[in-house]
Formats: sequence, structure tokens, C-alpha cells
Amino acid sequence: MAYRNIVKKGDPILYRKSRRVEVFDKKLHTLLDDMKETLYRENGVGLAAVQVGVLKRVIVIDVGEGLIELVNPEIVFTQGVQEEAEGCLSLPGEYGVTSRPAVVKIKAQNRNGQWCLYKGEELKARCLCHEIDHLDGILFTKRVIKPVD
Ligand code: NI
Repeated sequence: MAYRNIVKKGDPILYRKSRRVEVFDKKLHTLLDDMKETLYRENGVGLAAVQVGVLKRVIVIDVGEGLIELVNPEIVFTQGVQEEAEGCLSLPGEYGVTSRPAVVKIKAQNRNGQWCLYKGEELKARCLCHEIDHLDGILFTKRVIKPVD
């Protein structure tokens, strides 16, 4: 595994749409392994491939329940609303209160291409929505409704 540098605000790649993964090969596995290393080194809870400069629909998250690898993730259900503070490894020092669904269900492929369903509430729901936004070139600042108290 290798650490990859995090792309920071101002880099135009952060506003681009990531492409679907079609091939589940060694290169994808290396990307996922490197994203895991990078997420833990940065003490983050989630990371999208675009944040290490790769425009593929790949995210990793760990909200304290172990690592989850999601390829081609799609939100298939949302319920309720939560308003909580949020930040991003690509926007160091910036925080804001965002509006996100309270509960989400996600359909995604694993590193071998198998489809799985995931459910997230609270931090996990925020994190899933935040990372999936990255795949569409959307930063959390677009979801901010008020500053952090
Ligand atoms: Ni982010």
C-alpha cells in the first residue's frame, strides 16, 4: 500500500464527474489499498478517488466500524433530514453545517464487482452522501446551510 497525496481546493479536478468502473482488476485493488492507507494516515472518515486525482467512481469510508469499499455507489433510498457540522480532507480548516438525509441506503459494487446494499444513519449517512457527491464534482460547501456555532 502507498500513501497518495490529497488534491486540495482550487484544483479543477475536484469539480469534475468521475467515470463508472467497468474493470475490476489489480489496478482497482491497488487504488483501493492506497485510498485506505491515505484515509487512515489523514485520520479521515471518508475518501473519494477524485481526492487522490483519479476520476473513478470509488470511495472508501470508515466511521469506526471498519473499512467499507464502495465502487459505483448509488443512493437508492433516503429518509429524513439531519443538520450537522461537516468538513473535507480537500478543504482543510473549512467547516459548515450541512443538510443531509438522516438515513440512506446505498447500492454499490465491491472490489470484485459484486453488488451489495448498505445502510447508513447519522455520521455514516452524512459520510456516504459527502463521498458520493465528490464523484459528481460536488463539494460539501455547496450543501452548507449555516456556519458551525
Ligand atoms: Ni470530502
